[in-house]
Amino acid sequence: MGRRNLSPEQIIRLEAGAVVVLDQRRLPDEEVELRCESAAEVADAIRTLAVRGAPAIGVAAAYGYALAAGRGEDLGAAYRVLAESRPTAVNLIWALEQLRDDPSPERARALHTAEVDRCKRMGTHASALFGPDTKALTHCNAGGLATGGYGSAVGALRAAWEDGLLAHVWVGETRPLLQGARLTAWELETLGIPHAVIADSAAAHLMSRGEVDCIVTGADRIAANGDSANKIGTYGLAVAAAHHRIPLYVVAPTSTIDQATPTGAGIPIEERDGAEISTRFPAHNPAFDVTPAELIAAIVTEEGVHRPPYEESLPR
Ligand code: MRU
Repeated sequence: MGRRNLSPEQIIRLEAGAVVVLDQRRLPDEEVELRCESAAEVADAIRTLAVRGAPAIGVAAAYGYALAAGRGEDLGAAYRVLAESRPTAVNLIWALEQLRDDPSPERARALHTAEVDRCKRMGTHASALFGPDTKALTHCNAGGLATGGYGSAVGALRAAWEDGLLAHVWVGETRPLLQGARLTAWELETLGIPHAVIADSAAAHLMSRGEVDCIVTGADRIAANGDSANKIGTYGLAVAAAHHRIPLYVVAPTSTIDQATPTGAGIPIEERDGAEISTRFPAHNPAFDVTPAELIAAIVTEEGVHRPPYEESLPR
């Protein structure tokens, strides 16, 4: 698989009669497109992680709603089936609300283009947080696959690399579905950025050895006070990073900020099937956790670098 950047349309697009997504369950070994021909099929693609990552989920929902409008589907039913596909990423509802008054393909494509533009602006802002020869650690996948193009946390790594500030990236494999080991490693390989996949449980050890200068993650929902939900395991990284005085940066577009939720306690955490962890024994499988604002050194949006107290600094 040669090195080439995926265009936004190769990740997700709206065609006549279908939303087409690059099936992320099959990556990196197979590049297979999945055609979704109704709002219900788009919702299923979101629920089963054929398309995943908060901004990309929003883009998929927008395209699914526009598809439903074009097919003459009951828009109330289409809205519900999409809105109920996954609970934590606020981009899902945000995107549906953006299309409520104008469920057109043009509106949905403009939303997609704007998300990619936000990523590029975030990358530029975030690069300023990197020092020379930075060794960064990231968790899950917050790359172009997760945003519909360019990437949020991976976009920040890419911008820092292009600015000559990034030396290496530790990639948390991100059990149970391995978004780090499968998707982030693939994107970094494509970008030519030095990296190594690690067991999630190896991160604190590397921090203790001075091998990690900063942690860069995305987010699925940021509460008004800055508490941030992201892939399960992020909170543990934040606690270890605080112990070793390593800054953790959250890179996420304003479409991920939920001003209607005052603190992290109000963020719904998706519980997924235990079989993703063990098909032999009983298993408990929360898909996200919440990192409290006090453990986050900065939140980077397309509008800039925001520092605590986030109630005052986050864009409204
Ligand atoms: O379950 P997933 O793969 O959708 O979880 C994704 C994450 O936690 C990402 O870090 C987050 O959505 C940010 S994507 C830019």
